[in-house]
Amino acid sequence: SLRPSIHYRPINPDDLDRLEQIHRDIFPIKYESEFFQCVVNGVGIVSWAAVDRSRPDGHSDELIGFVTAKFVLAKESEIDDLICYDSSKGEETLIYILTLGVVETYRNHGIAMSLISEVIKYASGLSMCRGVYLHVIAHNNPAICLYKRLMFRCVRRLNGFYLIKRQHFDAFLFVYFINGS
Ligand code: ACO
Repeated sequence: SLRPSIHYRPINPDDLDRLEQIHRDIFPIKYESEFFQCVVNGVGIVSWAAVDRSRPDGHSDELIGFVTAKFVLAKESEIDDLICYDSSKGEETLIYILTLGVVETYRNHGIAMSLISEVIKYASGLSMCRGVYLHVIAHNNPAICLYKRLMFRCVRRLNGFYLIKRQHFDAFLFVYFINGS
């Protein structure tokens, strides 16, 4: 088979079905169709797709990975206490990563790392953005390793944060600080 040739691009409305399918396949939590509509139309959400240009037969633009995120006002976020404020400059923001996923056959090639790097690069270019943060379920070692390697800091353990099939699971809160925070 051909060598993978991974490219990164924005998510668009043609990605809708595939995006929903991958979410269903890899996450234990159900996402509403409104969420997917917002992602593909870029309504309040920023996102990046990974595709493998070397795939034949019309699959060369099909999603194999994605990251979705939204803006949050730092003051209204749950990490308000960790942000240094400089009120002269306006309203500080944060980027909150909602979902990150790579289809199984493409894992361990650095694709998630590149997707998160895209988010950090984007956030770093915004003068009011103080960081990127996310929650991850406490037993998700591949994801936790990834965030640690990318220099995210684990700032909290949240007891029973996730409710999955009537069972509670803890979450870690990871933050990547930007612009002096
Ligand atoms: N060659 C070989 N190995 C590599 C390369 C490379 N070029 N680049 C990175 N790696 C290794 C890394 O060292 C890392 O190994 P280690 O952490 O075990 O030491 C490993 O590959 C994983 O890094 P990536 O390849 O960047 O990650 P991947 O693309 O496999 O995706 C992810 C990781 C997203 C967690 C994937 O496993 C997944 O989709 N899981 C299911 C969904 C999920 O858990 N998502 C995250 C939930 S948290 C949230 O959504 C906010």
